[in-house]
Amino acid sequence: NWTMEGIIEDSVRAIQEQVGDSRVILGLSGGVDSSVVAALCARAIGSRLTCVFVNHGLLRKNEPEEVEEVFTKQFDVDFVHVHAEERYAGLLAGVVDPEEKRRIIGTQFWNEFFAVAQDIAEDGRPVQFMAQGTIYPDIIESGARKTGGKASTIKSHHNLIPFPEGVHFDLIEPLDHFFKDEVRALGTALGLPDYIVHRQPFPGPGLAIRIIGDVTPEKLEILKNADAIIREELDAYNAKLFEETGERNSEHSCWQYFAVLPDIKSVGVMGDERTYQRPIILRAVESSDAMTADWAKLPYEVLARVSGRIVAEVPGVNRVLYDITSKPPATIEWE
Ligand code: XMP
Repeated sequence: NWTMEGIIEDSVRAIQEQVGDSRVILGLSGGVDSSVVAALCARAIGSRLTCVFVNHGLLRKNEPEEVEEVFTKQFDVDFVHVHAEERYAGLLAGVVDPEEKRRIIGTQFWNEFFAVAQDIAEDGRPVQFMAQGTIYPDIIESGARKTGGKASTIKSHHNLIPFPEGVHFDLIEPLDHFFKDEVRALGTALGLPDYIVHRQPFPGPGLAIRIIGDVTPEKLEILKNADAIIREELDAYNAKLFEETGERNSEHSCWQYFAVLPDIKSVGVMGDERTYQRPIILRAVESSDAMTADWAKLPYEVLARVSGRIVAEVPGVNRVLYDITSKPPATIEWE
């Protein structure tokens, strides 16, 4: 039965069969994928679901507050907000290599989830089942399990990092055969609101993989502020495109747009003073599944506004660059 309702019914039944009458914890980021899994699990097992939001301190400006607001006020689910900011800052201090960052962040996710599984243990045993929003492209790009392990790793997606010693879950991944557009259609059919279904994708390792070199509080602050301006301006541009064309998340509108902070400084001038500060790279791409992408041909006036606002409003930035590379040969993220 390949109607949306049929796919939903099949997924719900599969989850019920897999977990029996056990509790399940869900790794919730507030993004499309994990929100759709939350809706499926809520249908399948109701109040036996605990949604766990791990705040690693690498989220976008205002994002933790927004996710908490949505999942405590607008949805009736058991929601746990884990404040792991300091643990992550410690683990990432001085780490520069992209795959090393991904490994550390992904491994610590398992530790954080397992700690919650132990907290809400039943009969002294940690919760055995964990649901997450792994989608098909995550598996392909990680060159991971289920593809037979033959494909090479492009980058290790956070939810495909192996369990650390002492941690084990039986995973529930109802979206592991779907592409993003299919996940969005499922989300709509499940009644999720548009602002969740049409959020731009955001990687689990968060801003750590958009800061080239080591992650520091100072760099994070710059990146968050620049990224907030980019999102504000390009949200507005994308909304206007949608009004004109009726297309969203397609080859003709922006799929993702964000700031990247490279590990260099350059000379500038402000008033009659020399500055020696950081540049911000604007990344904006058009895509329909993130497997390939084109750099977005943004109008000059949009670029001008983004650049003008970033150098005026973000202390420590004196230059803005635009990444005009498609995927392949680049990837969407920088790490
Ligand atoms: P790349 O950079 O490989 O990214 O072109 C393809 C898509 O995947 C997103 N991405 C991730 N999503 N966990 C995720 O959930 C990850 O570890 C991860 N790494 C990249 C990226 O933002 C883009 O949409």
